[in-house]
Amino acid sequence: MEIKIFDDLASLNESFTIYLKEILKDRERVTVALSGGSTPKSLFDYWAQHHKNDIDWKSIFLFWGDERCVAPTDEQSNYKMTKDHLLDHVAIPEKNIFRIKGENDPDAEAERYSTLLQMEVEMAAAVPSFDLVILGLGDDGHTASIFPYEINLWENANLCVVGTHPDSGQKRVSLSGKVINQAQRVAFLVTGAAKAEKVKQIIESREEVAAIYPAAKVDPVSRNLVWFLDKEAARLLVGNY
Ligand code: 6PG
Repeated sequence: MEIKIFDDLASLNESFTIYLKEILKDRERVTVALSGGSTPKSLFDYWAQHHKNDIDWKSIFLFWGDERCVAPTDEQSNYKMTKDHLLDHVAIPEKNIFRIKGENDPDAEAERYSTLLQMEVEMAAAVPSFDLVILGLGDDGHTASIFPYEINLWENANLCVVGTHPDSGQKRVSLSGKVINQAQRVAFLVTGAAKAEKVKQIIESREEVAAIYPAAKVDPVSRNLVWFLDKEAARLLVGNY
């Protein structure tokens, strides 16, 4: 597990860009599952402003780690967030974009997306194996849309599951744990002081909290896990990273 801590978002975003370019080197097809929520906006805006022309966008095939069960035009939609901050500004071919259809029936969509992943993403050990899965961290310890009170969804045999937001009751479609942990690389993108407590627990006491925080179950078989943190999110870490 690699921990990268940055003084500001610009240096974090530039480092993430270098990381992505490394993955893209000499590749024509790189499958990436994006995180949702608000944290990725800064990275996407950074790419739109500073890397429109020097990232090989046509080799990137985009998927989502989770989606809110709302229309793609809804303010809550992870797809809409990505479109507004990235897709409307860089040349990713429409045919490379595989969104989770939040407007569909959640169970039917989880099944549809599972079938699509098996067609579009290289398989390893009979599981779709993304080149890169980007994850966020909720201040309750959730990741993708697997929440602590539904942590059993992580072990679900299906490739995609339906979660329910604990406060809003909003339905979500999410990758299950076996798809996340089958990825070639997993990168946590986490910023802000509100995440510091969970970052500390998950990085420094993972075994102790793996039964309660879904994010602590992120343990890719490739052993290729990196945390991109700003200094606020990393402020309680005591280790020397
Ligand atoms: C979502 C996400 C979720 C997110 C965390 C962090 O759809 O909400 O994919 O897992 O990454 O909730 O959200 P913020 O970035 O908004 O803090």
